[in-house]
Amino acid sequence: MKLFDVYPINPVEIVKANGMTVWDSEGNSYLDFYGGHAVISIGHSHPAYVSALQDQIEKIGFYSNSIKISLQDELVNSLERVSKKNNYQLFLVNSGAEANENALKLASFHTKRKKVVAFTGGFHGRTSLAVAATDNPAIIAPINETDHVVFSPFNDVDALEKLFETQGSEIAAVIVEGIQGVGGIVEASIPFLKAIRNFCDQYGAVFVADSVQCGYGRTGEFFSHDYSGVSADIYTMAKGMGNGFPIGGLLIHDSIKPSFGLLGTTFGGNHLACRAAIAVLEVFHKENLLSNASKMGGYLMKELRAMNQVNDVRGRGLMIGIELPDELAHVRGNLLKNHRIFTGTSKGNVIRLLPALNVSQEQCDHFLSAFAKELSH
Ligand SMILES: Cc1ncc(COP(=O)(O)O)c(C=O)c1O
Repeated sequence: MKLFDVYPINPVEIVKANGMTVWDSEGNSYLDFYGGHAVISIGHSHPAYVSALQDQIEKIGFYSNSIKISLQDELVNSLERVSKKNNYQLFLVNSGAEANENALKLASFHTKRKKVVAFTGGFHGRTSLAVAATDNPAIIAPINETDHVVFSPFNDVDALEKLFETQGSEIAAVIVEGIQGVGGIVEASIPFLKAIRNFCDQYGAVFVADSVQCGYGRTGEFFSHDYSGVSADIYTMAKGMGNGFPIGGLLIHDSIKPSFGLLGTTFGGNHLACRAAIAVLEVFHKENLLSNASKMGGYLMKELRAMNQVNDVRGRGLMIGIELPDELAHVRGNLLKNHRIFTGTSKGNVIRLLPALNVSQEQCDHFLSAFAKELSH
């Protein structure tokens, strides 16, 4: 037997991690500015997180959702405290795609309609509706093709208005990332998010804020959509939620009513996942991580914008895209090879920075000086 070969694999094997540092099997250390793809929110192996999970596994790791799991209620309280979102209900799942799948399904149940509006450049996951709402034909299997999803140009209020004018009575949901991650680190503009809110209100559609990558404190706001001043009907979350433990969730506005059997999942909301997510939020609170994300992100972006070889610096907080000219396409590889710094990529010649939210100024300076060296080579 062998692994199903769908990922281009970097041959470095990471065997140990602590905070912002990871070590390979030969003992080399690396600075992690990729956060395992935006997943590591409080740093690798944070001591409070490790001891919470150890303690929990010794008590109970899993039981079904058909029994009372008070850790789920504890997680609701922690989420309300840190996100400052009142009047929402929590449904727990296991991944970002599952969160979006359930959000769109719920919107359809709620409105009794079938159409979803998604945007060019958007990414929402790999399962049936989530992938159908993703703007990448290469990952949409024939069975996922559907007329129920309509694409509209990202950040184009006029096009969205026309779409609602012609099909508004059929639209169940609009799904939008606050910052497109896979799509090149492009922010949804404030007028665009406000227009989505207005059209959803006017036509009775559900506003789904895909916060799987841009949410959970990464931008300095709990949800990146918050900077627009409008609230969504459903927020979907995953990546940073469990700091590596698989957990996802939906915050569902109180106006959307539950009923038994409407949604379900075997693993979602299990004891271990909840304990991991509670530990993450405790660290967010105690270490003031949203404010650190905003501060360190602002610092990185200011320094990066001052480097004149860089074409563009986009994003917010610790979700940053650095667009480089084609002749500097080698820089990301050199950061890893010459400085042992992990970063991500995004559409176009974009380096994606997604460090843990407790990155320090010293670590930012380390990255900046390595990056400046590589730009000048
Ligand atoms: C914005 C967004 N939505 C959804 C997903 C899917 O999440 P998962 O891979 O956990 O299913 C991703 C993953 O990269 C994402 O970036």
